[in-house]
Amino acid sequence: MHYIAETRSNIPHDLVSVSDYAEHAKQHIGHDIYEYIAGGGADQLTLRRNRQALDNIQLLPKMLKDCTQGSSALHFMGESLRHPIILAPVAFQKLVHPQGEIATAQAASSLETTMVVSNLASHKLEDIAQNLDSGKWFQLYFQESREFTLSLVKRAEAAGYTKLMVTVDTSLHGIRNRAQRAGFVLPEGVEAINLRDRPPLPRKTLSKQQSIVFQGMMTEAPTWEDIAWLQQNSSLDIIIKGIMHPADALKAKQIGVAGIVVSNHGGRALDSIPSAIELLPKIRKSLGPDYPIIVDGAIERGTDIYKAIALGANTVMVGRPQLYALAVAGALGVAHMLRVLREELEVTMAMMGTPTIGDITQDTIYRGEHR
Ligand code: FNR
Repeated sequence: MHYIAETRSNIPHDLVSVSDYAEHAKQHIGHDIYEYIAGGGADQLTLRRNRQALDNIQLLPKMLKDCTQGSSALHFMGESLRHPIILAPVAFQKLVHPQGEIATAQAASSLETTMVVSNLASHKLEDIAQNLDSGKWFQLYFQESREFTLSLVKRAEAAGYTKLMVTVDTSLHGIRNRAQRAGFVLPEGVEAINLRDRPPLPRKTLSKQQSIVFQGMMTEAPTWEDIAWLQQNSSLDIIIKGIMHPADALKAKQIGVAGIVVSNHGGRALDSIPSAIELLPKIRKSLGPDYPIIVDGAIERGTDIYKAIALGANTVMVGRPQLYALAVAGALGVAHMLRVLREELEVTMAMMGTPTIGDITQDTIYRGEHR
């Protein structure tokens, strides 16, 4: 077990909430890297909406409840989670700290947190797995070659990962104007090391009538058939990340996908779509109470996690904060950030009079009237 000394002495004293890390991170990383991480798609309408939608939800507490047997632990998809907070797949972590994903894995282990390792990690997936004593999940982007895609899956299986999270909302990169304006390019020494042996893409010559988007980039994008193919070729549970439309959510369930992440990729993919939290109640209703649903986007307070669970999520994922915390204080920073989140969640649960995750139901949300 990796132990990270939980001393606050190495953390700046004014760093007390998750969003404080974003401010502090600016002093530790270049402007271009900060813009790449913080930025959303195009005009950032979705990015802003992610935060706004959470802020607009109010809670309605109940008093005088005995909370002394409370816990934020839960069972989820056959695994025991110490808390409903998962580290979202986030690429190229060496961008902000030389130890990158290895440090994040050590922090996840010390806080008993499931980490979803990105397909675009800057360390080998096997090395990250060796440093991860808590939940190990692997995020997959479909590659042009099915053979190469399968080789990644088999490596993940052999390294002990238990779930495959297949991201489907960014076959195209999206319009990342903020990163472009800041002149962001991947610096030397940071690469998607797990894709090193990827076969070169076949050269395509497009005619004048053809589109670089449809006949170019989209030829690599997966379809529902690819998901079915993956189900046949992997023993791991498959979770689809990036579902927003209730009809897609239902289809995932119907074809036997193990779970979904309702997500707009932290507002980095298509701009002008709603936040996941807004769609969540409808999706939960149509999938029924038992289907595994994860949600992400702007989760940075214990109350955010609480709201997501109340509206139908089983767990949440946290993206950008892990990079900011890594930039500020390495593994210790990520561990501290996770601890702040967990403690804030537990404080919220206690103050709401709902001492277990199962107690957090839709009627804890204030609807603007007494019921
Ligand atoms: C991401 N995200 C992401 N998702 C994924 O499936 N694979 C990946 O490699 C990455 N990489 C990545 C890099 C950076 C810099 C960011 C900010 C995000 C998306 C991520 O998993 C998650 O959906 C969002 O980050 C959640 O929103 P918040 O918590 O960042 O607001």
